[in-house]
Amino acid sequence: MKSEDILVKEAWNLLEASMVYYQDRPVGTVAARDLSVDALNYDQCFVRDFVSSALLFLIHGKSDIVRDFLIETLALQSNDKQMDCFNAGRGLMPASFKVENWDGKQSIAADFGEHAIGRVTPVDSCLWWLILLRAYVKATGDIALAHRWDFQQGIVLILKLCLADRFDMYPTMLVPDGAFMIDRRMGVAGHPLEIQALFYAALRSARELLKPGRQGDIYTQVLSYRLSTLNYHIREYYWLDLKRLNDIYRFQGEEFGASAVNKFNIYPDSIPHWLTEWMPEQGGYLAGNLGPAMMDFRFFSLGNLMAVISSLASPKESRSIMDLIEQRWQDLVGYMPMKICFPAVADLEWKILTGCDPKNVPWSYHNGGNWPVLLWTLAAVAQKTDRPELGWNALEIAARRLSEDEWPEYYDGRNGRLVGKASRKYQTWTIAGFLLAKEFMEHPEHLNLISFEEDSDVTSMLALAQEWS
Ligand code: GLC
Repeated sequence: MKSEDILVKEAWNLLEASMVYYQDRPVGTVAARDLSVDALNYDQCFVRDFVSSALLFLIHGKSDIVRDFLIETLALQSNDKQMDCFNAGRGLMPASFKVENWDGKQSIAADFGEHAIGRVTPVDSCLWWLILLRAYVKATGDIALAHRWDFQQGIVLILKLCLADRFDMYPTMLVPDGAFMIDRRMGVAGHPLEIQALFYAALRSARELLKPGRQGDIYTQVLSYRLSTLNYHIREYYWLDLKRLNDIYRFQGEEFGASAVNKFNIYPDSIPHWLTEWMPEQGGYLAGNLGPAMMDFRFFSLGNLMAVISSLASPKESRSIMDLIEQRWQDLVGYMPMKICFPAVADLEWKILTGCDPKNVPWSYHNGGNWPVLLWTLAAVAQKTDRPELGWNALEIAARRLSEDEWPEYYDGRNGRLVGKASRKYQTWTIAGFLLAKEFMEHPEHLNLISFEEDSDVTSMLALAQEWS
């Protein structure tokens, strides 16, 4: 294994080589630089992929690239999004963009999902954008940028899109399949946890970024209410541990009216067999999704980890999530931190949920593959829950293999031992994720860029809800 210094130097060189330039200024990083395969759209800068690079740049005082990224993506938000009868709402941020050279001139071309495989909507982009804007302001103190007219307008457009009334009563956000990191059909439509955790963090960011004044004050009130109800809903209905599993196991069905205990009409028979053994005595996690007679019992890493980082999960739940990761380490971390979701879906369930997707066969890619980018969120959570030893262990496991395997996008197999079948090499968020995890382990004070404290409004909302019930 290479020495730590050499590894870090190599990673930084690769990260710098991945920068995208627009009019001689760096404005982002490409998703991957693997020259051995067709680039498809991996030569573009993805909003979600750039977050790990951006946080690292901010920590290292290279805030210009983040500022320029925020400015350029904001300009794309108002682009015309109509093509091929595909029409995205105002406020949507692109999944990715690319700098094009034409006739000696440069321009930026965005993809709002109208080019993406499966024509998926990148709901998470506008949420990450808000989270990143807050991190930028925290790192630089440049609140003036966020208070600029065009930025305030951009924030409000995102809020309008996210908070619009629709045919849905839940405080969670309703999205189509493939709306986030898992950008393919994987049975993650509805109210998936990852979107809810990002939604929560984005709303909290917006509340800090809105300029005081009539418009800002009205939105702040609306946001505070939504944050409380969202927080209550997730903590009350998504939480799973042995006690809760016992409750669900003995649930009555077909309850009508306000006194219903089993509000979503979850049938005990839908509890998967693996879970009754997998759930540890100590520890728990937030379910992957919830809807009428539907609870997705799979463990989704980014949703759970972002719930801890954003304090959507309570301090007690956060510690329990870390307990679960520790006790199910081989399943969730194994040979490469960390599994995107557990367990994989197989057989008929795989056919139905993925539409027979050969890239998402069991224990591969989004269907139970291991993604090194998740290392930074694991490190952040280990620090936040005061379990640094788990973060160090994960970092050490990753350091053993990443460079030797040429920084792959993902790993396959039950424990992540094989480099992913169709995995790109030199994947930027793998490289940045490693460096960022190291940074969080060595300098936990940088966590404040991305982390949120428990929201004091929540406690009063919980008290109110208990009074109602
Ligand atoms: C894949 C991933 C997606 C990522 C993109 C670029 O499509 O599923 O999350 O943003 O590659 O790396």
